Amino acid sequence: MEYEISPDYLPITPSSLRTNTTVGCDIFLLAKTTAEVRFVLYCRRDAVFDDEKKNMLTAQKIKSLFIKKEEQGAFFEYLENNFQHIISDTSIPTDERTKIVHSAATNLVKDLFNDPKSGSVERTKTFAHNMVDYVIKDSKAAESLLKIAVHEYYTYTHSVNVAAVGTLFGQGLGMGVKDLKGLCAGILLHDVGKTRISTNILNKPGKLTKEEFEIIKKHPELGIEVLEETGVEFKEERIVTIQHHENDDGSGYPYGLKKDEIHPCGKISRVIDVYDALTAKRSYADAIRPFAALKVMKEEMLNCFDTELFKEFIRFLGPYDPRKKQRDDDKLYS
Ligand SMILES: [Fe+2]
Repeated sequence: MEYEISPDYLPITPSSLRTNTTVGCDIFLLAKTTAEVRFVLYCRRDAVFDDEKKNMLTAQKIKSLFIKKEEQGAFFEYLENNFQHIISDTSIPTDERTKIVHSAATNLVKDLFNDPKSGSVERTKTFAHNMVDYVIKDSKAAESLLKIAVHEYYTYTHSVNVAAVGTLFGQGLGMGVKDLKGLCAGILLHDVGKTRISTNILNKPGKLTKEEFEIIKKHPELGIEVLEETGVEFKEERIVTIQHHENDDGSGYPYGLKKDEIHPCGKISRVIDVYDALTAKRSYADAIRPFAALKVMKEEMLNCFDTELFKEFIRFLGPYDPRKKQRDDDKLYS
């Protein structure tokens, strides 16, 4: 029998709860009888989630717990605080750990674009460092994250997916851990300057006027302002933020840099940003699938990229082609 789950509750995975911690929000079980389905309080927000509670879940084979939607902020804070423990807990299957990483990142990015002043820029940096540690230590983790990132590309998880693709691409290029951490945080933060631009312009359906486009073009510099206001030290993050619209042939903005005037992180972020723009569902155009995006990038936008780097990107995404045949992509560069 199918039940409709109330939209006031969100499912969470039991493996995201660490024993001997306090979660900070009420946790519910779904109790089903033939007559009704209802949520039963299982662990209070201030109660310790202990072994006894955990064993009960295992014994009853309970796969899903629930939190109230209005308390999701507290739950995601809990996830971020316990993140290192969760990602290094090998008793949790890799795919489940990856889902936890992914949902925490998605929530973080939502906070970042709602209000970059409330500490979310700093949280993003910390989170990106942990995420890189996670994928570096465990090749299965990288694999499962990439699978999610390439196959699920709904708008609300989009920047997380793009950061995952960018970071793992950087890893494939042989970048060191420190650079990867900066790159990952940079990709999550690169468009934060858009929070200083009117949503009337950002979400305008149809073509922008010349004046409006000039305003949009300010977002890399506005992003640097946001980073500087935090007082936190950023390096690769600044490069990615300021250079992600610079084109290889010098036609980009804000400085019109070309070829090796653009930092490797800037070059990577340009490829990733276009891939992002094409695969995201935007107000003015429907999203296209990742592998069709590569084709558009090659045929219409090659001037934007370092050609060698772009070829590497195609090779990197190739094995994740859902069609498995890779015919079209092999034809892109063979
Ligand atoms: Fe941008």
